[in-house]
Amino acid sequence: MEMKVIKNEIPLTTEFFPDRIIGRDQEISLINKLMFSSDAQTTVLIKGRPGTGKTLLAKFLMKLHPDYNGKYVNCYVSNSDRLILSEIGGKDYWRGGDLQSSSIESIIRQIFQKERRRNLVVLDEVHSLKSSNSKIIYILTRSTELELPPIKLMLLSIEDPEMFLDKSSLASINRINQIDLKNYNSSQLLEILKDRAQLALFEGTYDNDALMKIAEIAEASGNARFAIELLRYSARLAELRDQILTSDIVLESSKDYTEPIDDSALRYLDEWEIDLLIRLLNNWNSNRFTTEEIRSILPVISDARLYKWLRDLESAGIINKRKLSSGYGGGVRNEFSLNVQKNYLLNALYNLKR
Ligand SMILES: Nc1ncnc2c1ncn2[C@@H]1O[C@H](COP(=O)(O)OP(=O)(O)O)[C@@H](O)[C@H]1O
Ligand SMILES: [Mg+2]
Repeated sequence: MEMKVIKNEIPLTTEFFPDRIIGRDQEISLINKLMFSSDAQTTVLIKGRPGTGKTLLAKFLMKLHPDYNGKYVNCYVSNSDRLILSEIGGKDYWRGGDLQSSSIESIIRQIFQKERRRNLVVLDEVHSLKSSNSKIIYILTRSTELELPPIKLMLLSIEDPEMFLDKSSLASINRINQIDLKNYNSSQLLEILKDRAQLALFEGTYDNDALMKIAEIAEASGNARFAIELLRYSARLAELRDQILTSDIVLESSKDYTEPIDDSALRYLDEWEIDLLIRLLNNWNSNRFTTEEIRSILPVISDARLYKWLRDLESAGIINKRKLSSGYGGGVRNEFSLNVQKNYLLNALYNLKR
């Protein structure tokens, strides 16, 4: 008889919305107080490393306040003011089609002027909006001055606002309340894992030591997504081995498993960006590389294309950039390093191409 460990895989996926949010009670009540205790325009920035529950928290708060007309936009996908506004306005709204010609301000006016309900806009992964010609945050934080109904604005980011806001938007910084989500510790991760294991795995097919081992390993990144995915991976290995899930199985699966990439990361890379990345990884034996080294591996591409690609990989959390001291020419040189284990990443990229 084959040993079945996994009862239902859904609670181990990112689409799943948990009944219980662990360890964020203070943050939730603080946001409620800052944002939802008056009708005034408010901006809250929720900052945290990947997997600290930013998206979950925002969606939870949207559910908690059904009296608000909540609009959720992932800026990694919709990475310009017009794309964001077409998400907020909805497809039907744009059938008239002056999205291209109207100014951002007048589009915002059109969308919100007639809205009778209270407004809440959530901009997720807002650090992706690094372009200096993005005005949407500046305008939304000033909705009242524009004689629009107050718009509650929730910004979710892995970076401080200085990293992605331009000067004029930063000038409204004193109106932005920032809430930092700390990395989860092992006991919080254990609570999250217990809930998921109970829903996803058959009773008696896993022991508490296994969950504790996962929590202990995941504490290094404090990333709940990592913890949940390691549980899934380990449960599959246990099933494959016809065993129950023990801490030994967890240890074994953690060896060829590293931090997962933010769920929105790979999916939104262009085809050519994925092809270049595969090519780079297949030709590359070090953990660090400079722009010159990339150029020597890759076919001839324009500077603009190269920099867009590197920026996209960086926003996706795949690579980190570090400034090297400027060379004789005075120009700044950058060094890039891989954030994700190479074989894991290659696997994910090949899967994507299938
Ligand atoms: N406090 C929590 N309680 C239960 N599950 C959580 C908690 N925080 C995160 N998760 C789960 O971990 C995963 C990553 O959370 P997410 O909100 O996507 O993180 P972020 O947006 O900060 O990268 C999701 O599957 C989410 O359901
Ligand atoms: Mg997120």
